[in-house]
Amino acid sequence: MEFDPLSRLVIISNRVSAPNGSHSGAQGGLAVALASALQENGGIWFGWSGEETDEYTGQITFTRAEGVTTATVDLEAQDVDEYYNGYANRTLWPLFHYRVDLAEYEREFAGGYKRVNVRFAETVRPLIEDGDAVWIQDYHMFPLGEELRRLGLKNRIGFFLHIPWPPRRLLSILPEAEALVRTMFAYDVIGFHTEEWLSSFVDYACHELGATLEGDILRLGERRVQVMAVPIGIDVDEFAELATSTRGRLAFRQMRDSAVGRDMIVGVDRLDYSKGLEERFLGYERFLTEHPEERKEVFLLQIAPPSRASVGSYQRIRSSLESIAGRINGAYSDVDWTPIRYVNQGYPRDVLAGIYRAAKIGLVTPLRDGMNLVAKEYVAAQNPEDPGVLILSRFAGAACQLTDAVLINPYSAEEMADAIMQALRMGRDERIERWERMMAVIRREDIAWWRRTFTNALVRTPEPA
Ligand code: G6P
Repeated sequence: MEFDPLSRLVIISNRVSAPNGSHSGAQGGLAVALASALQENGGIWFGWSGEETDEYTGQITFTRAEGVTTATVDLEAQDVDEYYNGYANRTLWPLFHYRVDLAEYEREFAGGYKRVNVRFAETVRPLIEDGDAVWIQDYHMFPLGEELRRLGLKNRIGFFLHIPWPPRRLLSILPEAEALVRTMFAYDVIGFHTEEWLSSFVDYACHELGATLEGDILRLGERRVQVMAVPIGIDVDEFAELATSTRGRLAFRQMRDSAVGRDMIVGVDRLDYSKGLEERFLGYERFLTEHPEERKEVFLLQIAPPSRASVGSYQRIRSSLESIAGRINGAYSDVDWTPIRYVNQGYPRDVLAGIYRAAKIGLVTPLRDGMNLVAKEYVAAQNPEDPGVLILSRFAGAACQLTDAVLINPYSAEEMADAIMQALRMGRDERIERWERMMAVIRREDIAWWRRTFTNALVRTPEPA
């Protein structure tokens, strides 16, 4: 594929992550990808600083590091409450992850969400020059494109959704659904990770709003939007190198030493109810009860750094997991063996890479996930001569590409238990074959491919009238 030279890029997302100069990979994969897009094309990355201020002034803090300029603003406590904790994480996140039971609908949240998007639009507008391509990321900012158009912006604007798009019937539960989807017609290109999320979006737009689809162009009144499924990837070589870097090797050795000959199963997830951690613990427990002979042969290392801690549903999942892990460990532990090592802190990516390489099984079993990059990183970190086995939820976007993982329904403790047994028994030849096929996919559709496929589509789209 040929790539178009891009005009300057203005990336806008809730979280902004300036390059930090370290090669420990403390930054996430997406942050690295977006930063490298800015290094190639120039431009800025705008968003929330993560800080609060007494009164919103729109004052921008600029930083420049390694060729990337970031521009961030502080938000008022009420904004953080209503926009970030509220509408983004108590309304949209659960609903878009099919958790209708957890989604909360408050007018204040919707109002705060709109207010903050207006604020972002007004603040970033003067930074955008003629000819810049604007690329907005994720569910915090659905209406930002429309707010920018209201301010007269004629540039090309793209939007990428990093989480699932829910089926039409689920989305209809959201009081603002119709208005929200209408605002998305301000974009020129909208990207999703998978065909499934894409077709749910199109289904809603066509059936609820009367939009029409021709090829990949969705039309509503005067507006045309190109829709595409382009799964995000990782920098495969970079991650593989992290696994054999000094710190990666050290982590690998420490894990192998502490495993004392047992097989390690690893899970690494933000502590979020969408990740299926309770189901994972219960599936693992099922494995222990069905295979008593395997008990002391394995252990599960679950790393789960807390996330969005001021939201009630996150506090509840945290305490529920503590109690399940405690109960399982209480029931099965022996003086020389603990079945679950449950860790609530995060680790730098090079340490994680070493841990992945030391694990015989990567257990990635979200109940619903836009993509899931841990699955890809687990694969990239493996030793080509003796790779581990990825057990992956069918409901993660990554399952569309990683069809050579052991795919399971994460709600079924039985399937999880069977998959663990299958993975432990899998011979080296089969492990290598599956791994090579997965590597071929994640190499072909890597992070640079993702970014360029999207930005190419954006710069080729006709200029908005
Ligand atoms: C998901 C979302 C991202 C978000 C990340 C961490 O991956 O798609 O937009 O940044 O979770 O969540 P947080 O609320 O800590 O930014």
